[in-house]
Amino acid sequence: MDVQETTASDLIARSTRCDVMKDFALPFTVKVYLGSMGLSNSGSDQLIGWVSDLLHGNDVKRTEAAQSIVSFIDELAASRRKQSAADFTTYIVQAQVQGRCVTDEEVRGIGVLFLITGLDTVAAALGFDLAYLARNPEDQESLRREPTRIAIAVEEFLRAYSTVQIIRVATKDVDFEGVSMRKGDFVSCATMMLTATPQNSCAPTQSTWRDRTTAT
Ligand code: HEM
Repeated sequence: MDVQETTASDLIARSTRCDVMKDFALPFTVKVYLGSMGLSNSGSDQLIGWVSDLLHGNDVKRTEAAQSIVSFIDELAASRRKQSAADFTTYIVQAQVQGRCVTDEEVRGIGVLFLITGLDTVAAALGFDLAYLARNPEDQESLRREPTRIAIAVEEFLRAYSTVQIIRVATKDVDFEGVSMRKGDFVSCATMMLTATPQNSCAPTQSTWRDRTTAT
């Protein structure tokens, strides 16, 4: 997959102003997703609409978007079962699990999971990272001067702006550190608090990447 061709200037089309999320972050992640699944960029607006309805819409929009996404994955999988190609969809439909082929339902599950996990997360991360860099031009300049530090900056951005909450359901009653959780309770681990350091908190402008010398 060649994602190099998708650059900010490619998507923003030489405008002097842009809405980073609408004009770059979402189209970029959708283009990477479509490319890896073996599709051209032509359906990207539709896919962006479905994903934002699925993740941020009301109950009606969410249900409609889920149905559209499932049909989209099913049709794509069926076409790759008929005719294979050098893409991730073909890899999934031809995959074997414990000596058997994956079922249509499993293919659908993987396709939907890949879409949901890969799009909003990356777009949100790009948005936070670019907002930080826009507000801190001296850090932009230092990364241009020393591009080898980009990996460290990316790690620090992921720490400072963790966008995914981990949620679990308690399977039995438990008391932990003075907190009582009952069977069936939803337990949310706020990653943005877990990744804060005592000195640094998770305040954006206090990111510590400037002090680090190596990426992990
Ligand atoms: C900045 C980008 C991303 C962040 C911050 C992120 C974060 C996370 C976190 C915290 C989890 C654990 C969730 C849990 O156990 O409840 C997770 C799971 C996962 N992520 Fe990501 N992720 C990112 C990008 C991606 C991408 C690009 C893909 C695939 C294309 C991906 C695929 C997955 C999958 C398949 C899981 C497992 C889901 C499951 O267990 O059901 N993620 N991610």
